[in-house]
Amino acid sequence: MKSIRLITWGAVFIALAFLGIRMLTNPAGLDHGTEAPIASGPGGPFTLTSHLGEKVSDTDFEGKYMMVYFGYSYCPDVCPLELQKLTTSLLELEKEGYDTSIIQPVFISVDPERDTPEALSEYVPLFHPSLIGLTGTTEEIEAVAKQYKVYYAKRESDDIDSYLMDHLSVIFFMDTSGNYQRLFTTRDKPDNIVDALKPLLKRVS
Ligand code: NI
Repeated sequence: MKSIRLITWGAVFIALAFLGIRMLTNPAGLDHGTEAPIASGPGGPFTLTSHLGEKVSDTDFEGKYMMVYFGYSYCPDVCPLELQKLTTSLLELEKEGYDTSIIQPVFISVDPERDTPEALSEYVPLFHPSLIGLTGTTEEIEAVAKQYKVYYAKRESDDIDSYLMDHLSVIFFMDTSGNYQRLFTTRDKPDNIVDALKPLLKRVS
């Protein structure tokens, strides 16, 4: 019985995730005929606290392409895989002689209760050196997730310390003015990211 219930919930979650991605791929039914359709896409201003304990705003990354991923450091599977994928892509580009300093990978925690700046400072360095981890108050995280149209929810658990979070797992690619450009989903491989970023980067060696 328990496994059937799990499967049912699994199916519901996948369907919701799918819907979320569909909505994001076509935010608010992008009208190509008018100006400023991008303004209705995911993203927007934020000020959060970094894993180094500093206040960080979206405007600090002006002139860089942000790759924004929402997750949490206690995530047992998806988050580390996606952050590793991002890391692998950037390292591959560097290996091929591209300057990746114009790419700013950003990890925003949907679990600010446990993801304090201190907790993030132990997690973030496991990935690409330019990755920045951001956390904040519950309200700040709610606000930024809403702007990016990211669903997340705490899963009920008997153990108050070892709960899981459900969350949308996509990488938002933002242009150098902070406008939404595209998504990378869990189906994208590092090669897909490498191919997408290459035309934007300068070769230095
Ligand atoms: Ni996760």
